[in-house]
Amino acid sequence: MSWWHSAVIYQVYVRSFADGNGDGVGDLAGVRDRLGHLVDLGVDALWITPFYTSPMADGGYDVADYRAVDPLFGDLAEAEALIADAHRLGLRVIVDIVPNHTSAQHPWFVEALSAGPGSRARERYIFRDGVGDRPPNDWESVFGGPAWTRVPDGQWYLHLFDPAQPDLNWRNPEVHAEFADVLRFWLDRGVDGVRIDVAHGMVKADGLPDAGRTGQSALLGSAELPYFDQDGVHEIYREWRKILDSYPGERIGLAEAWAPSAGRLALYLRPDELHQAFNFHYVKAEWSAAQFRTVIEESLDAVARVGAPCTWVLSNHDIVRHVTRYGGGETGLRRARAAALLTLALPGSVYVYQGEELGLPEVTDLPDEVLADPQWRRSGYTERGRDGCRVPIPWSGGEPPFGFGASSWLPQPADWARLTVAAQRPDPESTLSLYRAALRLRRELPAAPLRWAETGPDVLAFHRGTGFTCTVNFGSAPVTMPRPGRLLLTSTARSEFGGTGRTVTLPPDSAAWWTEPAPSPS
Ligand code: NOJ
Repeated sequence: MSWWHSAVIYQVYVRSFADGNGDGVGDLAGVRDRLGHLVDLGVDALWITPFYTSPMADGGYDVADYRAVDPLFGDLAEAEALIADAHRLGLRVIVDIVPNHTSAQHPWFVEALSAGPGSRARERYIFRDGVGDRPPNDWESVFGGPAWTRVPDGQWYLHLFDPAQPDLNWRNPEVHAEFADVLRFWLDRGVDGVRIDVAHGMVKADGLPDAGRTGQSALLGSAELPYFDQDGVHEIYREWRKILDSYPGERIGLAEAWAPSAGRLALYLRPDELHQAFNFHYVKAEWSAAQFRTVIEESLDAVARVGAPCTWVLSNHDIVRHVTRYGGGETGLRRARAAALLTLALPGSVYVYQGEELGLPEVTDLPDEVLADPQWRRSGYTERGRDGCRVPIPWSGGEPPFGFGASSWLPQPADWARLTVAAQRPDPESTLSLYRAALRLRRELPAAPLRWAETGPDVLAFHRGTGFTCTVNFGSAPVTMPRPGRLLLTSTARSEFGGTGRTVTLPPDSAAWWTEPAPSPS
């Protein structure tokens, strides 16, 4: 089996992971210093979010030079040293490629603005004339407001995100050639894979037809839109797969693709396309046995049809942290720990977002003046944006910045003192200890498909092979069921699991891993 079929991959959001140079912003030196944490945790690889030259209008997802490291994060030598350090420690490295748009400060866009309508430079982007004084169509930016901005000569350019992120024209061969070269640049530096930003967005419907509705960003990943998940994107991935395959070792392509169904998402995983695609339908499931069962079944069925593994994810730097999504406070944490055991028991690969191994909640009370996400401004200060899941990691000590650096670009809550890596490491009941144990045991799980066991409405239970069972009680009351074997690992204190010899009482909002087949009824 290939490494990426079952790998646990840790997402490093660089600016919030660890600050090596003391300026309050995380950087590549900080990541190098803290690689030991990832080895100790037991992950197989890390995905590092963009660290390239950028004016940082969208946290680095606005790239001005794809082959250079922004001084905020380090330099190219530091990136190469990080890749080498990680490899020495047995960790694979995935970097982020942002091909849907560049920064408005990218030399291509600067040239496009000065070259004027009809020029070759404008052909690299999506410039159009408006309709009278109105934009060329009704498309809305994911961050709010129209997806078009007018330039002084009267034309409009498309930006599905911030105006500082103009969309590239993927019908232009020059754009294909440039990104093939960017891919090779990083593959030549030894990276084991690329995460493709907005992988569903690069090709727009012919003629740029109206979407015909408002509130388009709320439809992301659930409805068809003329600028997302168009069939034409798959040609790009066939081209990229050939590049990935031309390198030694198993280099992978990973799609950040929001597709309206599990079946549409699976198309990105056909054998001549990409290796992985984040399963965002799983993220959208609410804390209920029925919703989780449906999304797990649909996801596994869809990928089976193209012969690919599933890629599970609970949180990332764009989504409210799952402790908070599942209710927040002690209940949210309890459910998040159960969700972790469930997710890590599923067949496929799992992404862990930095801080989820510490049980970090979303920070919901950041002061307005520190908010940096363009969503805040673009929504007319109605959507607070994604900074609450990007608060820097607490490493050690009793007060902020908790060993992150000399300061931190977003303030950390004072009560994170009990959530630091240093505080959790020696505590066998901590979330960090749970993740470490789960990642260690996960390596021994049978590489077998999932088989459901029938249970009551609030419980999910499934076997992998003959020797392993995972149970999850999503309900708020204890549930008694036949004992599936011997307890291996529990998301909450073992003493909460009651029952007699043949039965077990599963505590509310809990998961457990079991080994050995259940005793046969006499
Ligand atoms: C997805 C990234 O994860 C997000 O952070 C970014 O804002 C958009 N793509 C635009 O690049």
